[in-house]
Amino acid sequence: MTFVKVCPVAEIPADGALGVEIEDTPVALVRTAAGEVYAVNDICSHAEVSLSEGEVYNGTIECWLHGSCFDLRSGKPTNPPATQPVATYRVKVEDGDVYVSLGSED
Ligand code: FES
Repeated sequence: MTFVKVCPVAEIPADGALGVEIEDTPVALVRTAAGEVYAVNDICSHAEVSLSEGEVYNGTIECWLHGSCFDLRSGKPTNPPATQPVATYRVKVEDGDVYVSLGSED
């Protein structure tokens, strides 16, 4: 499980998301109101738009185009039209920096 140092936590908007590329993979880093940090694939499973441009609330990130919300822990959509999950990635925070592993959660 290789973790890659991505950026300081402070670069992720509070209660928001930051789109980054890690080893050519688009990743949405999300910081919740409670200060938890998550990483999910940044491409909506319904069409190719960036999830990091959407709203973060109730433990989900909402796709701005058609409104599907994706659970930040499981990557599963909580409402249509998306039916497929987005990949989720392991995150750790050390000394104020975010590290992500692109290895599968499973
Ligand atoms: S493109 Fe994301 S829900 Fe349609």
